[in-house]
Amino acid sequence: MTNLTPRQIVAELDKYIVGQKEVKRAVAIALRHRERRQLAADMGMEIHPKNILMIGPTGVGKTEIARRVAALIDAPFLKAEATRFTEVGYVGKDAESIVHDLVENSITKVYSQKLKEVESKAEKLATERLLNYICKQLKKSKPQKQATKQLAVAQGATSIKVKGTSSLTRRFVARLLQDHKLDDQLVEIEVPEVREEFPTDLELAPSDVEDFRGAFADTVARVEGKGKCHHWRKIPVKEARRLLAREEASKLLDYSEVVDEATKRAEERGVVFIDELDKITGARIEIGRDVSGEGVQRDLLPIVEGTTVMTRYGPVKTDHILFMAAGAFHRSKPSDLIPELQGRFPLRVELTPLSQEDLERILTEPQYSLTKQYQALLATEGVELVFAEDGVKEMARLATLMNEQNENIGARRLNTIMERVLEELNYSAAERKGEKVVVDTAYVSQHIGDLVKNRDLSRYIL
Ligand SMILES: Nc1ncnc2c1ncn2[C@@H]1O[C@H](COP(=O)(O)OP(=O)(O)OP(=O)(O)O)[C@@H](O)[C@H]1O
Ligand SMILES: [Mg+2]
Repeated sequence: MTNLTPRQIVAELDKYIVGQKEVKRAVAIALRHRERRQLAADMGMEIHPKNILMIGPTGVGKTEIARRVAALIDAPFLKAEATRFTEVGYVGKDAESIVHDLVENSITKVYSQKLKEVESKAEKLATERLLNYICKQLKKSKPQKQATKQLAVAQGATSIKVKGTSSLTRRFVARLLQDHKLDDQLVEIEVPEVREEFPTDLELAPSDVEDFRGAFADTVARVEGKGKCHHWRKIPVKEARRLLAREEASKLLDYSEVVDEATKRAEERGVVFIDELDKITGARIEIGRDVSGEGVQRDLLPIVEGTTVMTRYGPVKTDHILFMAAGAFHRSKPSDLIPELQGRFPLRVELTPLSQEDLERILTEPQYSLTKQYQALLATEGVELVFAEDGVKEMARLATLMNEQNENIGARRLNTIMERVLEELNYSAAERKGEKVVVDTAYVSQHIGDLVKNRDLSRYIL
């Protein structure tokens, strides 16, 4: 998903986020600006990223936008909450961990991309090795030889001579392997001592970075000839194939190259999203720990301004990292941030409160909207859930009413409303297989009408 135009980025975001046009455009432009910057840099130009600050009330899509951007862009991405940081010298994560975590996310991405590139080659090599193991084993065992012969006959071979490991046998075993006919047979293979939690498939989640490091250490040890810790294991062919493919893949990858490439990408194209920036204004962080918000701001400043951070992967320059920040700023204003940090977020965009119509659309339109989620969940019980238009309207109306009467929590209100409306159905769905349930105005009123009227009660429940 590289090189999306701003229009394409907005179109992608539109699939998940209702309204907030201005913010989507600003984010799209900043991301594009970042790609162009790279081209300009090739012409010898120095162009600084256009950092964005998103401001808007609670529950209107700030964090959701960040989450979708992360999935959308190919560049290394990190989302961090400002409230998680403590000042340097205090226990906890300090601001520099942003850079460290960004590089690790980048490593994860690069690593899995490179793995994909060598995947088919690794699988071929693994199959060859597996064949060797199986044929060697066949040579040793008479009954197995017999079994192969029988299998061959059963498969339609008229006569087959199993002499040692003739190429015929080998070809035949290869075919059986390919057809997954041997998956559950046991084979003895020599495997390197790899930590158990090493990722088992070729996909890596960010949390697997630890394992990657473990694998990295293993590889270094192996290359350097230390700790030659191979041992024999008797395991099903299916698993052997996987283990061998993994080993071959890691042999094909140059890990220091992965780290270098990942660091470079983080420096040139990294995007960092700092959420809850408003919570670190003032002397104390709002969550009540004895940490000065202003102190955290001071620690963030050089990173946003551009500095070189020493990480365990080497020095990382932050000058060209794109920073996006968001905050509700309901108790404070952006001008309460220290001036230098304010200045580093020149683009300010505001998210608007959600109207009743927005809430209606949020219920139904996004790719994974709440109504779609509940439909999918109940379908697993064999219950068909239908949301009538008037039912959706009614839920949006009640959400708006509750937001006005109590605290305005934006689209989050829809969660509590939906949960209440469907509580009874969720409870009894297992016994209602084959039924069709229509959620219309009457259904909604029947299930939460009384709650809405009771102001005191609704405050706690809805
Ligand atoms: N504009 C929107 N379109 C679609 N879904 C939305 C929108 N706004 C909010 N939501 C949904 O409401 C929930 C809360 O939104 P989100 O986490 O983005 O709030 P926020 O603006 O970050 O609020 P806070 O300031 O409290 O962190 C999410 O589940 C999100 O999917
Ligand atoms: Mg948020």
